Amino acid sequence: MNQLTEPSFSKVEFGDNFVWGVATAAFQIEGAASTDGRAPSIWDTFCEKEGAIADGSDGLIACDHYNRLEEDLDHIASLGVNAYRFSVSWSRVQPRGDGLWNEKGFDFYDRLISGLEQRGIQAHLTLFHWDLPQALDDRGGWLNDEVLNCFVVYAQEVCRRFGHRLASICTFNEPWVISILGYEQGVFAPGIKDRSVAMQVAHNILVTHGRAIKAVRELSPDLSAGIVLNMSPIYPASEAPADLEKAKIDDGLIVRWYMDAIFHGHYPADVITYLGNDSPVIKESDMMDISVPVDFIGVNYYTRNFSSTGNPWDVASTGNQVTDMGWEVYPDGLCELLCRLHADYNVGTLMVTENGAAFKDVLEDGQINDIERQSYIQSHISATLEARRRGVPVEGYFVWSLLDNFEWASGYEKRFGIIHVDYESLERTPKASSLWLTEYLTGGN
Ligand code: GCO
Repeated sequence: MNQLTEPSFSKVEFGDNFVWGVATAAFQIEGAASTDGRAPSIWDTFCEKEGAIADGSDGLIACDHYNRLEEDLDHIASLGVNAYRFSVSWSRVQPRGDGLWNEKGFDFYDRLISGLEQRGIQAHLTLFHWDLPQALDDRGGWLNDEVLNCFVVYAQEVCRRFGHRLASICTFNEPWVISILGYEQGVFAPGIKDRSVAMQVAHNILVTHGRAIKAVRELSPDLSAGIVLNMSPIYPASEAPADLEKAKIDDGLIVRWYMDAIFHGHYPADVITYLGNDSPVIKESDMMDISVPVDFIGVNYYTRNFSSTGNPWDVASTGNQVTDMGWEVYPDGLCELLCRLHADYNVGTLMVTENGAAFKDVLEDGQINDIERQSYIQSHISATLEARRRGVPVEGYFVWSLLDNFEWASGYEKRFGIIHVDYESLERTPKASSLWLTEYLTGGN
């Protein structure tokens, strides 16, 4: 693809109905880990494991969002966004993941949604952003059919209570990350290293997703329901046939595995062959369950990837800027990905549900001049606009993230927020990127 020429991100060109938001996830910001009846999730357990989290931290306090809800709602409103994407902590509203509901837990999300309503901000709810109740993992987690049913019951209950107040509901955030990082590489909770388990989990989550969508439809036929996938364009590191083949399989594992299953009702044959004995067991009605129609696909985009069969690919070789996560800044990849999803799957509505960057911030005289993050966001808004110009129905863009927060295995060392959090005082300080965003969204350009 040609480099995007002039970065152009006229807000007016997006139109009045475009969804502009910021995103967070429960475990990364809420803290209050055992307040008001919340029970542990697999991430609480994982954090206790020696060496699992880079800085040895955990989610016990995080940003203390649970206790600072009103202040954070005010920050969201002051950004000028019209939408907020958040997730529900399952073990807060149903401590064992099965059986009793925790009213105090539901009260928190009720207050959150009310606060958004009062401020005229749409609520985009994610049911599962990785924090499986520990009690369900103890019963075999995503390998146990009963647990899959528990998720559908949980989805129904959330929908019954809040469905009519939401702008959208998402079943799962990033099944690739859940299964591959959690069950194959073991670097995320629950820390298992077994590819066949990982692929069975990936499959079972997709089945659960489909069943949950069906249940949501019955309760809230008008609610926009979908799933959020992390996808990046994959390039071969060289023209060598082995690299070309690896790039194809890697694309199959991260993009086609999910998209083919949801939109075409089958897994990519080349990936099944590649997985061999590690392919999941697929029951008769599974692919029908998975391929129920969705209203939107959420795309979480941060960078592109290169596949190499030789030496590990060196990110510096592109000459492009690299973030504090070691990820190349490559906005064209977002436009390319959106166009490809449109062309290959004809998705009705796409939303960029996460996009943002970690950089090392410096707090100087009470200010953070995070110009690199600002230009990252600008260039990706520009890429989103370019996709729209090419006819792709991308209807929303959410910045990851509202606040600096618990960046999973990296702990608190990586900062993605457009609002800085001082983890001692828990004070919030808007960074320059957030001031720019407000100006962009409210300035009439
Ligand atoms: C993700 C996650 C976020 C991460 C972000 C940066 O969905 O991958 O939703 O929780 O913090 O992606 O790595």
